[in-house]
Amino acid sequence: MGILTPVKATYRPRCLLDKCREVPKEQNPTLDLPEIPPGGVHSPRNSKAPRCRFERGREIAKAEERNRKMATDQIHTPLLTTYKMGNFHLSHRIVLAPMGRLKSYNNVPQPHAILYYSQRTTKGGLLITEATGVSDSAQGYPNTPGIWSKEQVEAWKPIVDAVHAKGGIFFCQIVHVGRVSNYGFQPNGQAPISCTDKTLTPQIDVAQFSTPRRLRTDEIPQVVNDFRIAARNAIEAGFDGVEIHGAHGYLIDQFMKDQVNDRTDKYGGSLENRCRFPLEVVEAIVDEIGADKVGIRLSPFADYMESADSNPEALGLYMAESLNKYKILYCHMVEPRM
Ligand SMILES: Cc1cc2nc3c(=O)[nH]c(=O)nc-3n(C[C@H](O)[C@H](O)[C@H](O)COP(=O)(O)O)c2cc1C
Repeated sequence: MGILTPVKATYRPRCLLDKCREVPKEQNPTLDLPEIPPGGVHSPRNSKAPRCRFERGREIAKAEERNRKMATDQIHTPLLTTYKMGNFHLSHRIVLAPMGRLKSYNNVPQPHAILYYSQRTTKGGLLITEATGVSDSAQGYPNTPGIWSKEQVEAWKPIVDAVHAKGGIFFCQIVHVGRVSNYGFQPNGQAPISCTDKTLTPQIDVAQFSTPRRLRTDEIPQVVNDFRIAARNAIEAGFDGVEIHGAHGYLIDQFMKDQVNDRTDKYGGSLENRCRFPLEVVEAIVDEIGADKVGIRLSPFADYMESADSNPEALGLYMAESLNKYKILYCHMVEPRM
């Protein structure tokens, strides 16, 4: 007597699932869908799992379509493509801009920054810290972090570790605010330093500025040295590099811009002289930590903090060409609209 085979059991549709199984798993991520045993209806009503092999095939086709769309999006969305920045392999091109948080009491970074920065970390993504003071005269806002003391370096370490643990690339933005400050932020209530002794116009309900003290020529190498030590400290804290804050009307920008810099020594007057201090800072830091770890932020077109230039295009070009000689990692240029 022959054995009658039930029709349902012999009819095995060749669905997409079978086709998928011919492909090795590593080439087909859709096979990560939950496994179902061969041949039939298994899932309870209302379950999201596919109920038959046809449904499973449809699920896989949809997943494949999603994968295709993601691949197409990557091709058409340059921000999501990889970028080799010197020795750093960025997995995308979205960067955390430096943003002051004003929560570093006594100029010491606090543990809550571990959560803040690690929340903003992606694997292979670049982050730049809030502006971080290079010395005890560098501050102009309350509770900004510094990186000139051992205590500050130690406080940065767990923050940097947390970003690295998630695969981020972390640069420390180092700054001296120059005349954007007042006696209250300065050691012993002294005057803020600048390239000039011209005071900023007071800003109602925002900030009070004190008349700055014009740096003597022989004092400038000490400020350059403060930047150099801050960069060295940043590397000791574990940062991947530093971004020199040369933008937004702070000390380096004050030297560059002809509406602020009224010096008559070798740091004032011609374009070359006005850019001397910024480039000395770059050179000192490059010598200290290596050009492959150095970036700079510039805003030649901005007039933020009354720091403007009569020929911003010439200034930007001169700086860009000069920076090329030092082969630094990047120049973070602020758009003219700022
Ligand atoms: C609250 C706040 C704090 C900022 N702090 C810094 C800073 O520490 N250093 C810096 O270079 N820029 C700072 N910026 C400027 C930003 O990095 C950025 O250039 C600005 O928000 C414009 O961004 P957008 O071009 O995406 O509009 C700050 C901006 C904001 C809103």
